[in-house]
Amino acid sequence: MQDYHEIVGDILIDEDTLKNRITELGAQISHDYRGHDLHLVCILRGGVVFLADLMRTITIPHTLDFMAISSYGVGTRKSTGQIRITMDLITAIQDRDVLLVEDIIDSGYTLKATLELLKARHPKSLHVCVLLDKAERREVEVPLRYCGFVIPDKYIFGYGLDVDEYYRNLPFIATLAPDHYKPPE
Ligand code: IMP
Ligand code: MG
Repeated sequence: MQDYHEIVGDILIDEDTLKNRITELGAQISHDYRGHDLHLVCILRGGVVFLADLMRTITIPHTLDFMAISSYGVGTRKSTGQIRITMDLITAIQDRDVLLVEDIIDSGYTLKATLELLKARHPKSLHVCVLLDKAERREVEVPLRYCGFVIPDKYIFGYGLDVDEYYRNLPFIATLAPDHYKPPE
């Protein structure tokens, strides 16, 4: 594996910008869910860095759970619209106020299918908090209650997002250096 310096093109969103926006989202969520039974559901693995920072800006009591879904495989860049739960939630979500926390929405297929799946378990409410929105790539409509940043149609990584499973630890969001760009398959 190469050092990340070799594959970073531009830093699209730096650490301070992420922190400030996430603090705003946390304040908004804390305000909107005051008096509600907030239950954050994080989609692994990409959502985990965002979740960890977001939850520390939320000032109301809440609980957490995790699920993993496969949509993008290693080496593929295009969502199929078919998802598979590879790790299910531990706790039931019936009658809970569920907020789904996800790293990025692209075509929308992953979130749409995930929402349908969770809706069938009868949560009291179900909304989405997404850090990044590649709005121009959308193929199916998904209601986003909270969104961090609308970003251009470029492959990005860092802050939970991977390049073939690596570099999720970078504290900023970067584009790939031109030599490393692989078009969607
Ligand atoms: P969608 O189903 O097309 O909306 O794809 C959403 C999923 O694709 C996200 O959960 C990410 O795992 C992945 N994804 C989409 N764009 C990127 C990207 O630019 N970098 C890394 N992962 C991405
Ligand atoms: Mg993801």
